[in-house]
Amino acid sequence: MDSKTQTALITGASGGIGYELAKLFAQDHYDLVLVARSTDKLNQIAVDLQGQFGIRVKAVALDLGAPPAARFLFEQLQRENIVVDVLVNNAGFGGFGEFAGMGEQEILGQIQLNITALTHLTRLFLSSMLERRKGRIMNIASTAAFQPGPLMAVYYATKAYVLSFSEALANEVVGSGVVVCCFCPGATDTGFAKRAGTQNSRLFKKIGAMKAETVARDGYRGLMAGRTLVFSGLQNWLVAESVRFAPRKLVTAVSRWVAEKV
Ligand SMILES: NC(=O)c1ccc[n+]([C@@H]2O[C@H](COP(=O)([O-])OP(=O)(O)OC[C@H]3O[C@@H](n4cnc5c(N)ncnc54)[C@H](OP(=O)(O)O)[C@@H]3O)[C@@H](O)[C@H]2O)c1
Repeated sequence: MDSKTQTALITGASGGIGYELAKLFAQDHYDLVLVARSTDKLNQIAVDLQGQFGIRVKAVALDLGAPPAARFLFEQLQRENIVVDVLVNNAGFGGFGEFAGMGEQEILGQIQLNITALTHLTRLFLSSMLERRKGRIMNIASTAAFQPGPLMAVYYATKAYVLSFSEALANEVVGSGVVVCCFCPGATDTGFAKRAGTQNSRLFKKIGAMKAETVARDGYRGLMAGRTLVFSGLQNWLVAESVRFAPRKLVTAVSRWVAEKV
């Protein structure tokens, strides 16, 4: 890839927020490395974005739920001399249900994708960014990061990790030329709710979800502005900030109410 053109690597780019982010980078003439499991969708997106924006797009069909995947991806890009200027750790999923009844794969899969793969990719790509004194990392957390989430206990906890990890890392790299941004969307209209089994929750049915396009645009702007913590929508910002002042038991009870099916 052309060394003058910057390259953004986006995980979970076959749909939802990741796809919308890919379009925004493409509009700004970034070359792209797009990662997800769905080969056909990724290849089609690559063809479309290449044709529309005259950029280069590499589609990598990969299951980041498999522990060696992050290193495999890193080494593949190294072999091809692809320098990643922006890493977007977007791939993630949630699962609805009481923890005691949740399958082991569902639990460990969320931890592997939402936490382990994100942390591993960050570690692998951060070193060369620090050497070049340039780079951006965007980790997608959620407003779920700000309170416990009964009925989605593991998912909420993984996002609390992403928030804590990203804010700490952002602090560590201040002055290095590398920016770390934690993006915290609220409910968003993507494939997420169906996969999680939360389409009939109060959150998605009654309170409503934002458009993925709008959410991605807010995240993209925040990342490019060099902000550490970014929200999409005033309501989501308020929810995340307000829980700090309420008793934790109450916050947890409200969180459960929001997650319950109606
Ligand atoms: N939607 C919401 O309400 C919401 C709210 C807050 C935060 N978020 C977060 O935003 C991020 C994006 O979610 P979304 O709403 O855009 O969900 P989505 O529409 O379900 O998209 C998830 C993306 O991740 C990819 N993915 C899933 N499992 C993967 C795996 N094992 N390996 C590689 N890629 C994988 C999916 O592609 P394949 O299926 O092709 O692999 C897809 O491209 C997630 O981290 C999510 O937790 C979402």
